[in-house]
Amino acid sequence: MATFRIAVLGGDGIGPEVIDQAVQVADTALRHETGTRLEWNRLPWNCAYYKQYAAMMPPDGWEILQKHDAILFGAIGSPDVPDQIPVHGLLLPMRRKFDQYINLRPAYNFEGVPCPLRDKAPGSIDMLVYRENTEGEYAPCGGRLYEGTPHEIAIQTNIFTRRGIERIMRAAFEAARKRPRRKLTSITKSNAQTFGMVLWDEVFRAVRTDYPDVESSSLLVDAAAMDFVRKPEAFDVVVASNLFGDILTDLSAIVSVGSLGLASSANINPERTYPSLFEPVHGSAPDIAGKGIANPLAAILSAALLLEHLGLAKSGAAVRGAVAGYLKSKRPKPPDLGGTAKTVEVTQGVLAALG
Ligand code: NAD
Ligand code: IPM
Ligand code: MN
Repeated sequence: MATFRIAVLGGDGIGPEVIDQAVQVADTALRHETGTRLEWNRLPWNCAYYKQYAAMMPPDGWEILQKHDAILFGAIGSPDVPDQIPVHGLLLPMRRKFDQYINLRPAYNFEGVPCPLRDKAPGSIDMLVYRENTEGEYAPCGGRLYEGTPHEIAIQTNIFTRRGIERIMRAAFEAARKRPRRKLTSITKSNAQTFGMVLWDEVFRAVRTDYPDVESSSLLVDAAAMDFVRKPEAFDVVVASNLFGDILTDLSAIVSVGSLGLASSANINPERTYPSLFEPVHGSAPDIAGKGIANPLAAILSAALLLEHLGLAKSGAAVRGAVAGYLKSKRPKPPDLGGTAKTVEVTQGVLAALG
């Protein structure tokens, strides 16, 4: 019996609420693979843990995590702890330490979801954002000077490396090559950011010569933001820096997927030297935490990405199919999709569609 060990970091707020649903659905879907089981190892590292131990994880936390085949993550952040603590104590170091340099974020408009762009046919919006996940605008590089004085200075430096850009570009071109439309858009802002983004564009132009079969173009991020709303169906694979990818995927979630509650994400270390991390795009949503109304579908679809990453393609496809089946059905929908269904009712709908 093949066993995959999955670290489960539910986190804060609605994080644990939605992750519990994802675990249940993934276990059920695994019936589609014989001789395989998932062993879920729940780790309590969140803001409450921080308040007790003044650290986001125990001293050997990274070694513990590294012993797993993958990580399923809810969301971290709590109103009673400054956001930098969980973000810089757990989430962002995890993406860098485990070299999860691809942040893959699909956006797909399912049948049955009231998309804000109502005239778009189901399935007509189908994009994959490849977000650079280890450097760029999120590099922890900078400092503060003259703190607390009127002439205080904060310096936040962007780090763009040829290697970092090239590997995300290549991963995105490889993905585009495998999709029917074979189209790629590189997001830039080289008109204003004349060092990092100019290197980004140069690497894009160099890499594209290896992919003559992919129709590729470059688009400024502000124009891209407009086109994500104006004509989202025009995008196939999109490759973007860390910050631009972050912002554009909240946008793609709402215009294409219909809600943040449906947007899934994979933080991938393709070399598999380290475990990859799977999480919904949304945060811990303190405004609805504890009410049992969070939409678990983003977490459930993230678990589908996890299953596929582990080579359990049949189970992953079964989860995605069950989510599509539930969304199309007459079953009650959660509040973010205009209904009144509770979190657990959504999961029941998906489990019913799993058959
Ligand atoms: P958020 O994504 O938590 O919430 C934004 C809005 O979307 C809220 O109105 C929320 O109710 C709604 N929403 C989000 N997920 C939903 C779901 N599954 N079902 C229904 N509605 C949902 O973003 P925020 O409010 O800006 O941030 C809250 C906290 O989460 C902060 O501490 C932030 O730093 C953190 N955060 C963490 C992650 C992460 O861990 N990956 C990601 C984003 C934000
Ligand atoms: C995301 C989140 C994180 C990010 C935050 C919590 C640092 O917004 O995963 O999209 O910006 O990467
Ligand atoms: Mn984000």
